[in-house]
Amino acid sequence: NKYAEITGWGKCLPPAVMTNDDLATFLDTSDEWIVSRTGISERRVSHVGTSKLATIAAKNALAAADLDPASIDLIIVGTCTPDEIIPNVASAVQRDIGAKDAAAFDLNAACSSFLYAMHMATQAIRTGAHQRVLLIGAERLTRILDWTKRESAVLFGDGAGAMVLQASDKETGLLASHISCDADARDVLSLDFGLSFDRFGFDGIMQFDFVGQEIFKRAVKGMNAAVENVFQQTGLTTDDIDALIPHQANKRLIDYLGKLCKVPSEKTVINIQKYGNTSSATLPIAFAEAADNGTIKPGDKIMSAVFGGGLTCGAGLIQW
Ligand code: ACO
Repeated sequence: NKYAEITGWGKCLPPAVMTNDDLATFLDTSDEWIVSRTGISERRVSHVGTSKLATIAAKNALAAADLDPASIDLIIVGTCTPDEIIPNVASAVQRDIGAKDAAAFDLNAACSSFLYAMHMATQAIRTGAHQRVLLIGAERLTRILDWTKRESAVLFGDGAGAMVLQASDKETGLLASHISCDADARDVLSLDFGLSFDRFGFDGIMQFDFVGQEIFKRAVKGMNAAVENVFQQTGLTTDDIDALIPHQANKRLIDYLGKLCKVPSEKTVINIQKYGNTSSATLPIAFAEAADNGTIKPGDKIMSAVFGGGLTCGAGLIQW
């Protein structure tokens, strides 16, 4: 039986830090409001494109795996902020790391993209279709934010995270997962091209449109149900879990989910205070950071939970 072992992980966080106080210099907001409502203190802002962030995270993950990039046979990039629509981000990564001939595509399930990609890549390895897969979550959200809108401008940040999955006989990797989408609620969160996108050109700004409290409720409920599903698939319970890595959209939401899933707060990986919501990059960044600082260790059982526009949702049990 083949498994998809995680052999490498890495991240890329742009060095430029934007604090809540920085935002308050041009928006009617405050550090107190942002911290108390979201848990976010600062976020990173990239001056380079999503492809570059993705490539750096990928190189770090490949170095950790000690793997020749030329041997990678599939690259999937989860992103909702590609530099261009065509060609995709994954092809830029393929070129820049030297993974010649690897299949390369982007996947957009909003903030759930990385777990969606991990779910698909794991199946591809288990069937024997692929052997060495590079997975990336990369976003440059600050590029598409409307900086006059305090409701959304304060929530997001830039960054990328990556993982290398390799075919292995060891019973490790994403052992069980559940992904879903509640399309009836697709209007609850949207990002469209703006009012002036028409056949004569594009000079508009992207329009983020979301109902925060509605997302909050649906996210907690959806992620908890997905986690339950994975517990049922595996026969495991909360007591068997060494860590929970939830999507980082709001600290209060994470705390609430932890209570519902009965995971103690010291087992929950939280870094939203430093990076804000980096959409599809939150899961691989959190995994890489927790792995590097020893919060999670080889042998651990890690539950991940994600949600995003669509509304997409998912959970997965990672045996590391
Ligand atoms: N600074 C100061 N005041 C603000 C700000 C701000 N940045 N943003 C909104 N406010 C004001 C509003 O105008 C409103 O004022 P009013 O009462 O005078 O009308 C008041 O604060 C309360 O606004 P709410 O939207 O009700 O605030 P809420 O407590 O719901 O927090 C938030 C909003 C943080 C978005 C929360 O609902 C949330 O985290 N939701 C889930 C995550 C989410 O939706 N993320 C965005 C989508 S991305 C994703 O990951 C799916």
